Amino acid sequence: MKNRHVLLIDKNSNTFGNIQAAPTEDINFHFANSINSANEALSRKQYAVGLIVLDAFISDNLEAIESLIAAHSRTEWIALASPALLEVPTVRSVIARAFYDYHTLPIDRQRLLMTIGHACGLADFRLALHQKPGDEPGYHGILGNSPAMRAFFQQLEKIVDADLPVLIGGETGTGKELVAQAIHAHSRRAQAPFVALNCGAVPQNLIQSELFGHERGAFTGAAQRKIGNIEAANGGILFLDEIGDLPLSLQPNLLRVLQERTITRIGSTQSIPVDFRIISATHVDLQKAIDNGTFREDLYYRLGVVHLNLPPLRARHDDIPLLANAIFNRLSASHPQCRANGFTTQALRVMNHYDWPGNVRELINRITRAVILCDGKLIGPADLGLNAEGNAQAARTLEEARASFDRNILEISLRNNGNNVSRAARQLGVSRVTFYRMMNKHNIAAPH
Ligand SMILES: Nc1ncnc2c1ncn2[C@@H]1O[C@H](COP(=O)(O)OP(=O)(O)OP(=O)(O)O)[C@@H](O)[C@H]1O
Ligand SMILES: [Mg+2]
Repeated sequence: MKNRHVLLIDKNSNTFGNIQAAPTEDINFHFANSINSANEALSRKQYAVGLIVLDAFISDNLEAIESLIAAHSRTEWIALASPALLEVPTVRSVIARAFYDYHTLPIDRQRLLMTIGHACGLADFRLALHQKPGDEPGYHGILGNSPAMRAFFQQLEKIVDADLPVLIGGETGTGKELVAQAIHAHSRRAQAPFVALNCGAVPQNLIQSELFGHERGAFTGAAQRKIGNIEAANGGILFLDEIGDLPLSLQPNLLRVLQERTITRIGSTQSIPVDFRIISATHVDLQKAIDNGTFREDLYYRLGVVHLNLPPLRARHDDIPLLANAIFNRLSASHPQCRANGFTTQALRVMNHYDWPGNVRELINRITRAVILCDGKLIGPADLGLNAEGNAQAARTLEEARASFDRNILEISLRNNGNNVSRAARQLGVSRVTFYRMMNKHNIAAPH
């Protein structure tokens, strides 16, 4: 998975020949043979790191190099220079002021690759520091800067206020509900209600009354009149989540509402006019459901006048550092006991390699776990429950997972409270006796 871009600048591309062939999976090398073409490349794309051979350009103009760096200060810069050039005071001064690191020519491949790796890690951290909450790239709270998400935002922008039905597809945890809320917040219906119903979470025999409402006495147990979700959404937006779970028997009723714009409560004959925009979401392929006969094709076309599809997280790796840092910043602000400042380079790399079957929701869950468990300055792969190869750590039994969690929490709270058991117990909301019992159970030595 290549996601970090490194720009190599020299007059002669051979200098870097054996660096570019490096077996690093997550670094993408590019080459520019002049300051001008480097400038062009940097304005087209964000490069994490830039390497420049000073010997090749110094005679042209030191200032040109300085302005290149000044114009692209989000990139970490590494200077390559011959021992002789490194003796020149103006060169030493510019390296000290403008570069992250320098490398003495000729190239020592191993050492330079290590320097590049560090610079890439630092670039990620810098990116996080630069992004204050609210500043992150994205669209109305939906974070993302990858090509896939930028294309998605363009589509979204076009339909947000078009007042057409929208069908949002995408795997679990990709942000379908978040998108529905963003559409509501930025549509002409923003001041009117947003009513959400998860068709998969409501027992099938209750969905009809949830949607359409009922009159008092309409059926056994209908003690009061109930306004249904459709009526409640009048003027605003009705969000039907997991629309694929809407029972086949109710699909004609919903279709009729969408065609006639009126509803009839159960147990009533009066039809009530309703005006709402419908947004529906599904994580299953509705086309398949149509083929299987569990979803009506005519309803599908009514709901999906506009189709939006959220790409899975593994198809937008570029967004992972951005999302991870934003989620971390948000969480660490609300967990003052968390001492971590960010992620290790390895953790960022591992997150890039991992498959994220649960998408953004899983990312949030793993970072939450790390914020609670991590007691170092930086969050590593293990804190995220990932191993160094970027796989989820082997699933343990629930019992083992709980025990390890408890042990961790006890140790952390002891450490955070200067080994004072009473204070640690109070922080965790248990009695001293319970705390001692748990320490005993988990073989934690009593502090002196
Ligand atoms: N691009 C994003 N930027 C910021 N937060 C996101 C993004 N995508 C998803 N989230 C967050 O991830 C969590 C899951 O998103 P959401 O509930 O919208 O997913 P979903 O597609 O509806 O999932 P499901 O199919 O399981 O219902 C939410 O907390 C949401 O705020
Ligand atoms: Mg959802």
